[in-house]
Amino acid sequence: MKILVTGGAGYIGSHAVVVLLEAGHEVVVLDNLANGSAEAVTRAAEIGGRAVPLVEGDVRDRRLLDEIFAEHHVDAVMHFAGLKAVGESVEQPLEYFENNVGGAIMLCQAMAAADVRRLVFSSSATVYGEGHPLPWHEGLPTGTPSNPYGRSKLMVEQVLTDMAASDPRWRIGVLRYFNPTGAHESGRIGESPRGTPDNLVPYIAQVASGRRESLAVFGNDYPTHDGTGVRDYLHVMDLVEGHLAALQALDTRPGVNVWNLGTGRGYSVLEMLRAFEKASGRAVAYHFAPRRDGDIAACWADPGKAREELGWSTRRDLDAMMADVWRWQQANPEGYD
Ligand code: NAD
Ligand code: WQD
Repeated sequence: MKILVTGGAGYIGSHAVVVLLEAGHEVVVLDNLANGSAEAVTRAAEIGGRAVPLVEGDVRDRRLLDEIFAEHHVDAVMHFAGLKAVGESVEQPLEYFENNVGGAIMLCQAMAAADVRRLVFSSSATVYGEGHPLPWHEGLPTGTPSNPYGRSKLMVEQVLTDMAASDPRWRIGVLRYFNPTGAHESGRIGESPRGTPDNLVPYIAQVASGRRESLAVFGNDYPTHDGTGVRDYLHVMDLVEGHLAALQALDTRPGVNVWNLGTGRGYSVLEMLRAFEKASGRAVAYHFAPRRDGDIAACWADPGKAREELGWSTRRDLDAMMADVWRWQQANPEGYD
């Protein structure tokens, strides 16, 4: 198949390009490089052993989308493009709704016009909101995410659901990611945050490499086994293999299909830090700081539905995630810059 990967110059999208190429698919990337890098696409194409055209442009640009569909005979779309910084979404909510919700709507309109109705969408566990018993499964009602970023993901899920209800030809996989981390095992592609990292593992990696002084651990009085926040971290290569499995499953599954992508177990901030120290052989300085606004104590996935319906489960453990991040960090201390 030929797959349009929006956001393919970003962290997760570039890893998806690799697994798609390795599975024998052709890939076209559309990315406006707001938070991505052309170098990521070049390297993903090298790893995957096949050329990948990068169209530099915006998913909100309908004319460009029409041109891509006219030129490339796309069979399916993996839609990663969007903005993802939670704090920034509070400062700039309109940007987030325009990019994430507006972008998804524009993409779906162009897809329908081109008669392409197979879509895999990057959603997030944030759509569950809070207050549910653990683990979180797809049968739970969605909640109210604590920030505009999360709400934009929930809105897109609702848009896709209404759209598929209006036209049974759509086949959509909504993938609710838990906490992706890790990097390709080659160390050639990985997460390259601009500025201060928002997420835990990139921050730890920069402390270990000497770029930052100390990790602020946000809260040590949560009702968890060591008081620090617990999350379900999964390796980015497992995550993108889940996308491939979802794409295949759409052959027999019309409508909107929601799948959690997670491991089913949680690790605390301190456990993550210790695991990184073990993988890197470096001490990681840390200090306790107040809880971060909007954070919850703990969450992890029930990955049973993806296991049963996609035949997918994670294969890489925490040591592999950390070893791969460390390899990437050492080989690319400034990311792609
Ligand atoms: P990323 O920022 O590395 O990648 C997103 C890519 O989309 C970037 O390359 C950026 O330049 C591009 N982009 C942004 N807006 C665009 C637009 N309007 N038009 C074209 N390209 C645009 O982020 P990521 O971590 O790879 O995340 C990929 C997707 O997965 C996002 O939709 C994100 O919300 C979702 N997601 C990520 C996580 C996570 O922890 N990383 C968790 C849950 C969901
Ligand atoms: C993990 C844990 C922090 C940084 C976010 C988004 C979510 C999804 C994934 C997607 C928490 C703690 C973190 C630090 C810390 N986004 N922490 N010091 O918050 O679970 O999820 O990313 O696009 O929508 O909300 O991930 O990596 O930020 O935090 O102590 O410097 O690490 O409090 O317990 P989170 P995270």
